[in-house]
Amino acid sequence: MANVSERTALPVTIQGVAHTFDNGFQALHETDLMIQPGTFCTLLGPSGSGKTTLLRIISGLITPTEGAIIIGNRDVTNVAIQERNIGFVFQHYALFPHLSVRDNIDFPLKTRKIDKAARREKVDRVLDLVGLSHLADRMPGQISGGQQQRVAIARALVYEPDVLLLDEPLGALDRKLRQQLGAELRRIQQETGTTAVYVTHDQEEAFLLSDTVVVMDDGGIVQRGAPEKVYNHPETEFVARFLGDTNILASDLAGIRAVGGDPVELEGDGRYSLRPEDIVVVDAMGESQPAGHYALDGTVELVNFMGSSTKVTVRAGEALLHIDTHLSAEHLTQGAPVTVAWDPEAMVRLETRAPATA
Ligand SMILES: Nc1ncnc2c1ncn2[C@@H]1O[C@H](COP(=O)(O)OP(=O)(O)OP(=O)(O)O)[C@@H](O)[C@H]1O
Ligand SMILES: [Mg+2]
Repeated sequence: MANVSERTALPVTIQGVAHTFDNGFQALHETDLMIQPGTFCTLLGPSGSGKTTLLRIISGLITPTEGAIIIGNRDVTNVAIQERNIGFVFQHYALFPHLSVRDNIDFPLKTRKIDKAARREKVDRVLDLVGLSHLADRMPGQISGGQQQRVAIARALVYEPDVLLLDEPLGALDRKLRQQLGAELRRIQQETGTTAVYVTHDQEEAFLLSDTVVVMDDGGIVQRGAPEKVYNHPETEFVARFLGDTNILASDLAGIRAVGGDPVELEGDGRYSLRPEDIVVVDAMGESQPAGHYALDGTVELVNFMGSSTKVTVRAGEALLHIDTHLSAEHLTQGAPVTVAWDPEAMVRLETRAPATA
């Protein structure tokens, strides 16, 4: 589909940005990040990790104590928010309650002194984009939360911002609506070709929406990359655990053997991440698995039926392994001896030191 704006998208460059609040608290350590034009970039991290602070710095609501923000090739570090041509959507939609849907969306155009006919055309276009043409004359109090959030997104897009910033815009909605509106948001971003920076602490949402996921912890970026890359190749235990369930195996875990072969000793003295979906519960001794896979004997400790899968906990010596399986729960009796197996390629060696923020 054609770009709605027909303008060239702009990159956002965060150059050596750090921020210490007036009370002396450093919420952001020196950070470098390049957001490619027209891409969807998500800042993902636990509460207090500095996501909102970084987003507000990009918007101009906060002037960083160090470093520079560059949009396109314009240094906007000291440029006021209204001069940056940025669209901002917050968690709480904050529509004007006394203005209709149409007038809410028209508002930023009115303040920009654009003539009436052009405004009407732009408003109609974004109303169509967010699928709300039929509700244009309603008041915010007469539409649902999800619809209100669509109005907020339309209002942020109507003046064709160079960059769209969104801070947990779906946070107040229920899970199903979050998924639906998330998918819609992705479509809208692709249709408009706008560079988007999105904040969430929900990793599923980050995976669904993003070209790039930037994982933050404790005021810094700990890892960045395409969703699949960070999920499959976490560099640290923090990232491995934050992006989904995982097993952390110590390299001195005893009892591992190659299927149909000798005992295996894991390399090094570090730790490994192994996702629950990468482990299979196999028949006695695991001999049906390909040679070269690793096997471990244990006993079933816990079986939880989850609907689409079954979660099994297996004790193997000191270790407790969490496994997602499609085996029917009736084949897994608590206390029964089992063998589990996995492809050694699925194990990801974790860094023990803090990673560089390269
Ligand atoms: N104005 C302020 N003065 C001092 N400290 C602040 C200020 N605003 C935020 N902080 C602190 O900076 C840290 C980062 O806050 P930030 O709002 O960026 O976190 P976040 O990652 O967005 O978290 P959440 O997921 O809860 O929204 C927190 O420890 C917070 O308490
Ligand atoms: Mg926040």
